[in-house]
Amino acid sequence: MLIKVLSGSKIKEYDCGKGENLLSFLQGKGYAIAARCGGNGKCGKCRVRVIEGTFEGEKDGYVLSCLANVEGDAFVEVFETEGGGLTYTAPTRTETDGEEGYGVALDIGTTTLAFSLTDLKSGRELDKFGTLNRQGAYGADVLSRIAAADEGKGKQMQECVLAQTREAIARFAEKFAFKKLKRLAVCGNTTMLHLFLGKDVHGIGQYPFRAEFLDTVHLSGEELGLSAEEVVVLPSTSAYFGSDVVVGALTSRVEEGVNLLADIGTNGEMILHAHGKLYATSTAAGPCFEGANIECGTGGVAGAIDSVRERDGKIVCTVIGGGEATGICGAGLVDAIALMVRKGIVDETGAFTDGTNKFYISDKVYISQADVRAFQLAKSAICAGISVLLSTAGVPYDALKKLYVAGGLGFYLDKKNAVGVGLFPAALAGKIEAVGNTALAGARECLCRKESIKAAERIAREAEYIDLSASPEFMDAYIENMNFGEENA
Ligand code: FES
Repeated sequence: MLIKVLSGSKIKEYDCGKGENLLSFLQGKGYAIAARCGGNGKCGKCRVRVIEGTFEGEKDGYVLSCLANVEGDAFVEVFETEGGGLTYTAPTRTETDGEEGYGVALDIGTTTLAFSLTDLKSGRELDKFGTLNRQGAYGADVLSRIAAADEGKGKQMQECVLAQTREAIARFAEKFAFKKLKRLAVCGNTTMLHLFLGKDVHGIGQYPFRAEFLDTVHLSGEELGLSAEEVVVLPSTSAYFGSDVVVGALTSRVEEGVNLLADIGTNGEMILHAHGKLYATSTAAGPCFEGANIECGTGGVAGAIDSVRERDGKIVCTVIGGGEATGICGAGLVDAIALMVRKGIVDETGAFTDGTNKFYISDKVYISQADVRAFQLAKSAICAGISVLLSTAGVPYDALKKLYVAGGLGFYLDKKNAVGVGLFPAALAGKIEAVGNTALAGARECLCRKESIKAAERIAREAEYIDLSASPEFMDAYIENMNFGEENA
């Protein structure tokens, strides 16, 4: 079969086997198509426009590519999304060992892959970009990826990220005219690192939640089919506390006082330094801050609404990159819900008060009742996680110096609204500092300096992991935080 694909202004043609799934085919050709529900036909993010040809399930000229099989020649238009969360505030030059050559830091997020090309001698960042993790076709969160691996799809998922890494290295090599990368330093959550190395993730998904490896792994690029002399997979603390937060703690200098780093992505991971010790935990916040289970949700990408205000009785939004709003990202969602609470569109339990069950922020972008519910679960998990971690470590709110908020959400976030909707405890309002993508910045530090890898190994080893899922105090705080309090109004 001949498939023609339009993306932006570019048209390409491919041969495709009869009966192939359209989404898998397109992703296999490198199109960054979001598939947040893992191909279950629920999220609508994988929609393509049918210009020529027919597909079963086509409606008004569009079809969900995850449910469509190629049965004849066709011409489709795809809507690609580049990943967000790349605009970090950490310094773009890092200390080095003075080696010659190029290195790439890779942060494997469940939703987004972030790549940074760095000159190993000067430590200067030369280029960076983000793209959606193609494993998204196998599910939006870690647990669905583990389930997919249990069904024998681990190899395909490994190949997704390896192929994207090969493409990234090739893109940098072409732009900066080098032949082979000296080093690739990789961080991510523990499941992502296991899938990257083709390891079994079954133990991570089941009690007692055991990882196959946590320590730093050194291997040659050849072993993974990558054009790099060396690959370093950075160290993790536990099955649910990966090297992305370990190196994030390193780069944000959490240990320079009583500080807490909260990295909010598909999960909410936190690490606290107090009494000369490190305490770590994670909460299953769900992917709502990355837009995955929000009807008009999207990552922090071009076209996403990232702030919502009311001015003279009118709703005013800002859109990343300008232009028409195509969705709403986590930071926009925080603002929108804060506004809905203030205006009484939802009551303190989160229920719509006028029975419409939809609040339009722009012509096309709205917040639904289901979105508000997903948000409540997520914000409550983060807020309860922070308060229980502090109390378990015996740190009163006023003793905390800084609450660093990392991840794409952190960069765009309106702190007042975040406290207002109960995402963070009100007592910490003045201590919040957005630090952007600390995982990528930390991986760059380790890429350029062996001492930094040692420092990350020490943090990974010394952090005491506190399992909140077993904590009655967490459950109480989680339920208590679910509503919107009076301070939200
Ligand atoms: S509807 Fe196709 S991936 Fe969600």
